[in-house]
Amino acid sequence: MNDRAFVEEQIASIRETVGNGIAINALSGGVDSSVVTVLGHRSLGDRLKTVFIDNALMRKGEPEQVVKIFSKMRIPVQLVDARAEFLSALKGLTDPEEKRHAVTHTFYSKVFGRLVRQTGATFLLHGTILTDIEETVAGIKRQHNILAQVGIDPEKEYGYKVLEPLQTLRKDGVRRVAKILGLPAEITKRIPFPGPALATRIVGEVTEERLEIVREATAIVEKKLAKTRAFQYMAVLLKDKATGIRENKREFGQIIVVRCINSVDARTATPTKLSWEKLHRISKQITSIKGVNRCLYDLTPKPPATIEYI
Ligand code: XMP
Repeated sequence: MNDRAFVEEQIASIRETVGNGIAINALSGGVDSSVVTVLGHRSLGDRLKTVFIDNALMRKGEPEQVVKIFSKMRIPVQLVDARAEFLSALKGLTDPEEKRHAVTHTFYSKVFGRLVRQTGATFLLHGTILTDIEETVAGIKRQHNILAQVGIDPEKEYGYKVLEPLQTLRKDGVRRVAKILGLPAEITKRIPFPGPALATRIVGEVTEERLEIVREATAIVEKKLAKTRAFQYMAVLLKDKATGIRENKREFGQIIVVRCINSVDARTATPTKLSWEKLHRISKQITSIKGVNRCLYDLTPKPPATIEYI
């Protein structure tokens, strides 16, 4: 099926399934949820309620930026502040799957459950793509947005039905559809950013203080590597610490890993060859973040590594 036919078919299908009902969807600003927002909006108009949930795990200035981009397209987005709920759900957790579960549960059950009751929505439009389903089913990783495929019945557990219009597409397909829908380049060209957001960029416990460090490092890496046109680039805060020297004093400081990879669909990936000078500049800036005294560059392809660290 060509991409335009795909768009028409999905719009018709969402209209038919939702009927006169109300649907809700969570926008993160990533290309998947952005495409779902536009498809849903074209299908249902103001019977689609789009929310941006601030989970405390977003990048610098991200919530406001995303709301602004969509308001330019005349799609209203409600910003929901759920920072405290997510931080408290993540408190004390260090196991990757437990952290993912905490984010999923807080998102779908607590925050979303409440929003669904408030809006009267009976359908959730969801940006699940084929790769998410495949990796979860294969047991590689529980992607945050997978429900039915891991035996969760959202209607029974959370009180709403889930529609997944992108479940036959991979990332490259979603980007093509995004262009057809007229989404701006800042969305279509956006590098992938996972649902559990900066929680996947912190090995070990997620705290406000550690989020602040990785948020700062992420801003540096994204700015410095924007021109590489790599598939994805990121900063990761490790759980270990290392000895260093700051202002002539010994410091047991944090370690940030920089990862920059090339990939077509995230199923496999290879590290990007960056110039020594660029790596030096990044390292210098990252180690100027308070408490960070080491910066490493990750040379591992996928497999054996995954792209994210948790
Ligand atoms: P991994 O780490 O599994 O990542 O090699 C593959 C791609 O998926 C993104 N990713 C996620 N995206 N929810 C998402 O929406 C998630 O839970 C999630 N985990 C990983 C990752 O950034 C990469 O592009």
